[in-house]
Amino acid sequence: MRELSEWSVSDSGTGDDEIVANGNRLLIGNGYLGYRGTVEEADASYLPACNLSGVYDRRGGLWREPVNAPNGLSVRLRATGAADGDHPLSIKDSSLASHEQVLDFRYGVHSRSSAWRLGGAEVRVRAERFASLADVHLLCLRYSIRADLDIRLEIRQGIDCVLWDINGPHLEGRAFARDGGELSVSCRTQELGIPLAVVSLSALSFEPASEAVDESSGHFRILALDAKAGVDYTLCVFSSVYTGLDKDGDPLAAARASAGRAAAEGYASALATQKEKWDAIWEKGDVVIEGDDYSRRALRYSLYQLQIIAPRHAEGLSIPARGLSGQTYKGAIFWDTEMFIAPYFLHAEPAVARNFIAYRIATLDGARRKAREYGYRGAFYAWESQETGDDACSHFNVVDVFTGRPMRTYFRDKQVHISADVAYSIKRYIDITGDSSILDEGGLEVILECARFYISFAYYSPERGRYEILDVTGPDEYHERVNNDAFTNRMIRHCLDAARECLSLLGRTAPESLERIVAKIGFGADLGRLEELRAALYVPSPGEDGVIEQFDGYSRLEDCGLDELRSRALDPREYWGGANGIASGTRVIKQADVVLMLNLFGADYPPEIKKANLDYYEPRTEHGSSLSRCVYSLLACETGDSEWAYPFFRKTAEIDLTGDSKHYAGLVYIGGTHPAANGGAWMAAVLGFCGLSIVDGKIILKPRLPAAWTSVSFSLSLRNVEYAVVVETGGYTIREK
Ligand code: BGC
Repeated sequence: MRELSEWSVSDSGTGDDEIVANGNRLLIGNGYLGYRGTVEEADASYLPACNLSGVYDRRGGLWREPVNAPNGLSVRLRATGAADGDHPLSIKDSSLASHEQVLDFRYGVHSRSSAWRLGGAEVRVRAERFASLADVHLLCLRYSIRADLDIRLEIRQGIDCVLWDINGPHLEGRAFARDGGELSVSCRTQELGIPLAVVSLSALSFEPASEAVDESSGHFRILALDAKAGVDYTLCVFSSVYTGLDKDGDPLAAARASAGRAAAEGYASALATQKEKWDAIWEKGDVVIEGDDYSRRALRYSLYQLQIIAPRHAEGLSIPARGLSGQTYKGAIFWDTEMFIAPYFLHAEPAVARNFIAYRIATLDGARRKAREYGYRGAFYAWESQETGDDACSHFNVVDVFTGRPMRTYFRDKQVHISADVAYSIKRYIDITGDSSILDEGGLEVILECARFYISFAYYSPERGRYEILDVTGPDEYHERVNNDAFTNRMIRHCLDAARECLSLLGRTAPESLERIVAKIGFGADLGRLEELRAALYVPSPGEDGVIEQFDGYSRLEDCGLDELRSRALDPREYWGGANGIASGTRVIKQADVVLMLNLFGADYPPEIKKANLDYYEPRTEHGSSLSRCVYSLLACETGDSEWAYPFFRKTAEIDLTGDSKHYAGLVYIGGTHPAANGGAWMAAVLGFCGLSIVDGKIILKPRLPAAWTSVSFSLSLRNVEYAVVVETGGYTIREK
C-alpha cells in the first residue's frame, strides 16, 4: 500500500507479489461478483478473476471451487511502429514510465493511470471501473488513451477466456457471437453443466483505422488507432455476466439486455447511480472514528470489503472465508460468517444477516448427510460449505512442505462446534432483531437438528456421571482430536439452551407451527434426551489460578514460548499443526479459543477470570488465523484495558490493506481478502471500544475508547428503527434517525 487517504488506497507496485497483493487490496464487487484489482491488460499470470458467488464446479477429482467468469473487461494495448519497435503496453513492459492504481472505497471504483515512454513519445492510459450495485451482473469500464506524439496503436478489447483457476479450467463448450461492438461468450461448467454467458459491449469515442476479430484465446475486437498527439481516445465497456442459476431466463439474452441497458444509459450516468447506491449503503453501514485518521480509514476500508461481498441480490447466499477475491479455500463458507461477519450486518443491516441464516436453512440437508456419513443423527454442518451444504473440506487439506504429500487433517471430521455456531447465530439474530419469524421458516428445524447431532455425539461417562465431548478440534486447529474442548462444550451447551428456548418461544407465538415442525422431524423422542444432556453436559471451569484449561490435558503439554517454537521451524511455510506439527505437542495455540468463549459468554464469568485467561493465553497464541486478534481486543476491552486492545484492533483492521497475513498453509495457497477480520475490526471498534450490546431490545453502551480516539459514530438498525449513535470518551448520545 503506497497511500491510505480518507476514502482511497493506492499502490504503484508492478512486481509479481505486488500484483497479487493488489488483486486483493483493490478488489471491487457487488455480492454477485468480485473483480480483482488487476490492470486491464492482465493475463492469467496476474491472477485476475471475476469470481462468482455461489457458482461452483469440480474438474476431475480436483477440489471443488467457485467459478471465475471469462474476463469481459480485458483491454490490451500495443504500440505498433513506435520508434523503438513494437511494445505491449503492460505494466510489466520495460517502457513503463509511471503507474498507479487507486481504489476509491467510498464508491467502489478502481482506477489506474499508467504511462509508457516509447522513444520520444509518451502514451498514457487512464481507466476506471466499477461493479454495479444497480445491476449486479454488470461491470463498467471507461478506458482512455492519450499520446503526446502521433502514434499508431492497436487495441485488443473483449473477453479473455484464459483464466486464472486454482483447480480449473471449469468452463467448456465455448461459443462466440458478435453484433457490432457487442461480443459474447457462452459456455457451461464442467461438472453440472451450468450455462454461463459473458457479454462485453464497447462504445468508442473514435473511428478506428481498421477493425478485426480475434477468437484465439477469447473473443476480442482488434482496433487499429492512429492516435493524434494530445487527443483522448476513449472506450466505454459494459460487461455483463449471467449464469443458469440466475432466474432470468437464457443467460446470453439476459447478459445482452443488461449490457445494452447500461450502454444506452452511458458510463457517466451509471457511475452517478453507483454513487447514490453507495451513499445509501454508507448511510446505514458507516462507522466514523474521530481522533485517529488511520483507524477511521482502515475500519471504513474493512467495512467496504464486507459491503462488496454482501449477498443482497438473492435469497439463501452467504459469504465465503475469502469473500469474492478468488478460489482460495474453495470459495467455501466457514464459521467465519456466523461468528465474525454476521455481527456487523446484524447491527447495520439485519436483512443481510438473515440471508446468512437462509443459506444455512437451505443447506440443512447437506448437514444431515454429513451427520449420517459419520454415523450421527441431526445436522453436522460442513466445515467448508458450498451451495449444497456438503462438505468441500478434504481429509487431506494441507500439503506438507517437506514431503510434498497431502497431510491428513481433521478440520472436516472433528470441528464439530460448527453446528453450534450456526445455532448461535440464529439465536443471536432473534435476540437482537426480535424477529422470531425465522424459526418458522426453517430456523427452528436447524437448531433442533444441531441439538440432535450433539445428543447423538455426546458420550456419557458413567464414572464421572456426566456427558463429555470427546475427540474434537476446537477453534485452535493446531491441537486436533482433543477431549472436552472448553469452547466446544460451552457452545454445545448454548445450542441446547437455544433449542429449549426456541421451542418454548415458538410454542408461545405459533403453537401449530411448533407442533408441525416437531412432528416433521420426529423430535418428540429427543425432547427428553435434550433435557438430560443439558443437565449433565460437562463444561470445564476455571482452575485455582482462574485459567480455563483449553481441553483435557492441555496443561500437561510442553510450555514452550512462541519465539522458541518459531526458531524450531525449518520452513516458513510449514504447517504447525497436524500429526508432526511443531505446535501440536506444545501449549502454543493458533488462534483465540478459550478467550473467544469468554467473550461470547461474558456474563458467565467475572472480570478477573477474563483477565487471567487473557494474560495466560495471549503469549501462547500465534495469531496464525486472521480470526484471532480481534477476539483478544474484544475481551481486553471488557476487562477495561483498551490501550492493550488497541494494537490488536489495528492489526485486524489493516489486514487487507497491508496484505500482511499468511499466504500458505503448508503448500496450499490461502491468500485473498479476510472478511472475518473485516468483521472482527467492526466488532472490536463497536462491541469492544464502544461497549455496544442489545439487551431485551435496548441499546446498552459502555464506552471505553482508546486514548487516541475522541469519538465513534455509527448507525444502528434495531427492530425497524434506525438510530444514530455517537460514543465519546465520557458518554454517548443515541437519536432516532
Ligand atoms: C482458521 C479457521 C477459519 C479458516 C477460514 C483457518 O485458518 O483456523 O478458524 O475458519 O481459516 O478463515
